[in-house]
Amino acid sequence: MKIAIYPGSFDPITNGHLDILQRATKIFDKVIVLVAINSSKNHRFTVEERVQMIKEATADIPNVEVDSSEGLTVKYAKEHGAGTLIRGLRAVSDFEYEFRLASANEFADASIDMVFFMARGDKTFISSSAIIELYNNGVDISALVPESVIKRL
Ligand code: COA
Repeated sequence: MKIAIYPGSFDPITNGHLDILQRATKIFDKVIVLVAINSSKNHRFTVEERVQMIKEATADIPNVEVDSSEGLTVKYAKEHGAGTLIRGLRAVSDFEYEFRLASANEFADASIDMVFFMARGDKTFISSSAIIELYNNGVDISALVPESVIKRL
């Protein structure tokens, strides 16, 4: 069974994340969406809220599980029988960060590989903070996030 981990802050999950997740679920038997707990970051939503919003948004995708974890994602992957981490790339600016992340992960555990999906053209500008800013300024963001996020804003 091919298991992949899709890690991130998901603060909150967006339709950009969901698009990448949906595409990953067609390639892997199971994808675990992992809310990575980073206590040094100031989050808008609690870990529990973020997990719950993802669970609701992915309820109709059978091969998705949602979890949260502290510590290294590669360690979590190994413990859960996953050989791959999924990440999305929106622009060249993402590449540099992802390349460093991939190198750090490889240093920690070279047996876990990273697979990248290119964000679809209409989703390249989406980020969690941009969505919150648009929302706070009265823009209708219902096309950018799932219903589970809208109801908590
Ligand atoms: N669609 C929409 N938004 C996207 C996106 C997409 N396809 N891809 C990235 N983003 C946005 C997010 O919305 C977020 O926006 P924000 O900054 O405005 O909130 C931003 O890109 C970055 O978010 P994310 O992808 O969640 O990355 P991150 O830097 O917060 O977290 C982890 C990266 C969690 C995967 C990584 O830090 C991790 O694995 N941490 C655990 C510890 C570890 O293993 N570290 C690695 C070795 S040092």
